[in-house]
Amino acid sequence: MRKPLVMGNWKLNGSIGMAKDLVAGLRSELSTEANCGIAIAPPTVYLDFVKHQLGGSNILLGAQDVGVHLSGAYTGEVSATMLKEIGVTHVIIGHSERRTYHKESDEFIAQKFGVLKEAGLVPVLCIGETEAENEAGQTQAVCARQIDAVINALGVQAFNGAVIAYEPVWAIGTGKSATPAQAQAVHKFIRDHIAKQDAAVAKQVIIQYGGSVNDKNAAELFTQPDIDGALVGGASLKADAFAAIVRAAE
Ligand code: G3H
Repeated sequence: MRKPLVMGNWKLNGSIGMAKDLVAGLRSELSTEANCGIAIAPPTVYLDFVKHQLGGSNILLGAQDVGVHLSGAYTGEVSATMLKEIGVTHVIIGHSERRTYHKESDEFIAQKFGVLKEAGLVPVLCIGETEAENEAGQTQAVCARQIDAVINALGVQAFNGAVIAYEPVWAIGTGKSATPAQAQAVHKFIRDHIAKQDAAVAKQVIIQYGGSVNDKNAAELFTQPDIDGALVGGASLKADAFAAIVRAAE
């Protein structure tokens, strides 16, 4: 039985004061043991601060990205071992905003997946089609290609203990979530695609939905058999909304 994971991606938002208030709000809203995993991914510069604010709570610490190198002359990069050392457990990679604005390729993202596995961190691999790809009927082909890059580089076993976040790009930050049926169809495709290589790996892999998830639409999305929680952007910046999404996943 898969345990859902609800993860908040703060993106480029926040400050010390905001992080302090938001974590305090989450701790009071989510004080009882949850039946689903909970993680928050603040901007890198606040990770250590948030870790201390979280102290002893059941909320896990996530990061929004990682470099592919462990050390050396790579100005501006942050390594998997550094993230691990300060208490990060889950790391988002391949977010569409990085694929678009930083021109990250499927192969480069697969490299990141590899360094995270090597460091004992959980990759949260974002995949999903753009609106144009959706309209051209390419949703499955895009998702398959993005997953196959990891399988080709590392083998299907790399998905053991990993997380996939299906985020249709047209649903991110638009207020236009995929319907539960639309999302379920793609999640099932993703699981079946992995099952063609290894059924056991496919059965355990967590597949989150992401894209305009909020406290109103979460519960219905989570009724779908292949939707295992959510990767939440905007609604993760409000403690009450994020907590309501967590409760909907339990
Ligand atoms: O990583 C989170 C996703 O990009 C979803 O963002 O919930 O603001 O649409 P959103």
